[in-house]
Amino acid sequence: MFPEQYSRTYLILGGKGSLVKPFLKWAGNKYRLIDRIKSMLPARGFRLIEPFAGSAAVFLNTNYDHNLICDTNADLIGLYRTLKDEGSAFIEYSSLLFCEGSNTPEAYYELRAEFNSCRDTRRKSALFVYLNRHGYNGLCRYNLKGEYNVPFGSYKKPYFPRAEMLGFKQCAEKAVFHVADFRDTMARANAGDVVYCDPPYVPLTATANFTAYSSGGFTPKDQLELGILARQLSARGVTVLLSNHDTEFVSQVYEGAEFVRFPVQRFISCDGENRGKALEVLALYGGAGNAGEQRSSFGMVPGALRTG
Ligand SMILES: C[S@@+](CC[C@H](N)C(=O)[O-])C[C@H]1O[C@@H](n2cnc3c(N)ncnc32)[C@H](O)[C@@H]1O
Repeated sequence: MFPEQYSRTYLILGGKGSLVKPFLKWAGNKYRLIDRIKSMLPARGFRLIEPFAGSAAVFLNTNYDHNLICDTNADLIGLYRTLKDEGSAFIEYSSLLFCEGSNTPEAYYELRAEFNSCRDTRRKSALFVYLNRHGYNGLCRYNLKGEYNVPFGSYKKPYFPRAEMLGFKQCAEKAVFHVADFRDTMARANAGDVVYCDPPYVPLTATANFTAYSSGGFTPKDQLELGILARQLSARGVTVLLSNHDTEFVSQVYEGAEFVRFPVQRFISCDGENRGKALEVLALYGGAGNAGEQRSSFGMVPGALRTG
């Protein structure tokens, strides 16, 4: 049994229709789109693979027996592994950084500098949780030297996501976490696996280009290679579902997929003009002999526009 203070976890995890909330704030996270995404995933499948984990909102809200969760962000994956291995002890250790004294610009920049020079995974992971909740807008941004460079967020009393971290720890029992480029992750997929890909968005305009989750960017060539890999996996019996902005380029990159398009509210955008309005697309490549007929019981979302 878990200690009394964790009882909220049961609310987060329990009850029909309730969602598991990611403990990290993450640009482009899919927490609000879970039902739409689940409606397009096969209800059954051997294993869920997420090559672009981010806050892992989809993994946390699906129920596959096996899960391979990857991202190129080594700080993120280091944190997930530490939380999986240490559970409550790490949660309590991280909570110590959430106190009045640490919520000042001076303390923030000192802890940010410590994070950037830290070699100890446990300490670095706790600092990552701190920075995520005390930094501006929950952004995760690095400069070209690989240093985390998000400014202080000036929040009155940053929330420590104790219950959400415990929820993650519980789900993590069925998962393995790896630092990997999406090409390496997708190479591990076998027939019967289900792959959900949520790459950094293609920009809506030439100037809107938020891809700084790690120090490398995500280029149009990466997007094209992702589309090619998705088709190759589909031909080998792997179901692949991809998320992106609904643009002409994306329709070309995911050629031959089944598309569902819908509007979404944007919360983080570097482009003032596009803040708050965008069309999102889900593109599905059913694994030959694996997908369609096993679609989840959520069914199609009313009002979704389907083209083929
Ligand atoms: C849109 S976010 C994923 C959001 C996630 N679905 C969620 O709900 O929070 C994209 C993720 O891709 C990761 N990423 C960027 N380039 C990558 C690459 N080449 N291979 C794997 N992951 C990459 C980023 O670190 C980031 O976490």
